[in-house]
Amino acid sequence: MTGIVEAGYLVATLSFVGGLKYLSSPIKAKKGNLLAAMGMTLAVGLTIYAAISQNLPAVNLMVILGAILIGSIIGRVMSSRVEMTGMPQLVSLFNAMGGGCAMLLGIIEGQQVGVSTLALNVQLLLAGGLVIGAASLTGSMVAYYKLSGKLKDNRSRILIYLARTSLVLILGLLISFAFNLFPISFITVIYILAFLSLLYGVLFVWPIGGADMPVVISLLNSLTGVATALAGLVYSNKIMIAGGIFVGAAGLLLTLLMCKAMNRSLLKVLAGTFAKGKEGGEVKEIHIKETTSSETAMQLAFAQKVAVVPGYGMAVAQAQHACANLQKQLESRGTELHYIIHPVAGRMPGHMNVLLAEANIGYDLLKEMDEVNDEMDQYDLVLIVGANDVVNPAAENDENSPVYGMPIIRAHKGKQVVVIKRGMSTGYAGVENNLFGEENCQLLFGDAKSVLQDVIGQLKLV
Ligand code: TAP
Repeated sequence: MTGIVEAGYLVATLSFVGGLKYLSSPIKAKKGNLLAAMGMTLAVGLTIYAAISQNLPAVNLMVILGAILIGSIIGRVMSSRVEMTGMPQLVSLFNAMGGGCAMLLGIIEGQQVGVSTLALNVQLLLAGGLVIGAASLTGSMVAYYKLSGKLKDNRSRILIYLARTSLVLILGLLISFAFNLFPISFITVIYILAFLSLLYGVLFVWPIGGADMPVVISLLNSLTGVATALAGLVYSNKIMIAGGIFVGAAGLLLTLLMCKAMNRSLLKVLAGTFAKGKEGGEVKEIHIKETTSSETAMQLAFAQKVAVVPGYGMAVAQAQHACANLQKQLESRGTELHYIIHPVAGRMPGHMNVLLAEANIGYDLLKEMDEVNDEMDQYDLVLIVGANDVVNPAAENDENSPVYGMPIIRAHKGKQVVVIKRGMSTGYAGVENNLFGEENCQLLFGDAKSVLQDVIGQLKLV
């Protein structure tokens, strides 16, 4: 029996590896998701089977199956209702659930067996999983409320100092317990740790603002994986260890890649320090030039090579299908068109890729920022569809700007630039965009979808 379970766990682990491999390609991502989900179903089925053969009480089995059923229904309903723009919030909620599970495991196990029967290393693993799980639970909940606009950033220094104090207390308590520095029962340690870690999650995430949020969500995701792996070590469950390590490692890699794409050091994100512009910077007055759909259609009609730079505004307007229609129009005229994707355009990793795939836009037309940044001057027209921060030249040429150092798409190097947006609002980072005042840049105001439809209509007349 153990042999079957172990072999099944190996198959499940391999399916996770295959799933992750497939997820790295937009074409195979769906298959990858399905493969990993099948592996997870196998792993859960085998774990229940193993528990039944070890005389799992019938009532426990009913509770487990009931919970799986309720969770599956809620998950199905949530995933079918969520808008693409609401995905980061959903991911935060899922993280919170994972963290909450790890915390509950720590509390329940700590209560059941007590200090006398557990070896110190197992106690420390349980406590570690509980700390990470509890901090991920409240941290993810705060991230959820912030992303849905229900909670504002609170950048008070007091919160940052309190967060650091609670972290020191958590580590101090763990060390004191490990070295038996003062007499305290394991279950008391568990309760104090749970309280401090729940508090730490709130204090750690609350002050983090603006462009750092995706990094934090990815980090919390990674932490939930670590908590699962620690719980797997406690139960000597190989599939929990493998699954936890995969989530932890993938989340950490994504965190580091996003830090790089936003020019933020992970340490600064964790410490809650913010990107600030230097004092005394010159405030430049920007003179913008407005354009119309028919003028833009004319520019497109005469362009040989066009770059479309999509951003968060395209997601809001759901303008991906209009982009695909414009592309077909231009291709039928022999114009070459590329979509240039910034790694953090939108509000989640891969946001633009997912939207463009939804509109059946070929992956061969998608170009990574680094691939084309040195050749931007070869585009006759750069059409920016609801992107702002990711094309802000201040990131390269204004040391006083808070976004200075963030890698950007060099849209300003294009021969002509047209920016589609509704008004003069700033992007996510809340920073003015110098691009709008550049000589070669014009603004086409309106909702991205209706503006693009207008442009397509006008283009047919040219
Ligand atoms: P943003 O800088 O947020 O700019 C979006 C622009 O779209 C705004 O200027 C807005 O201006 C415009 N817009 C909104 N709705 C529109 C509509 N219906 N039609 C036309 N335009 C519309 O977007 P970005 O350039 O994609 O940059 C992403 C930012 O989000 C970065 O700062 C990034 O760090 C941050 N962030 C990224 C992620 C990930 S992982 N991708 C997650 C969280 C945050 P108007 O309101 O004037 O129209």
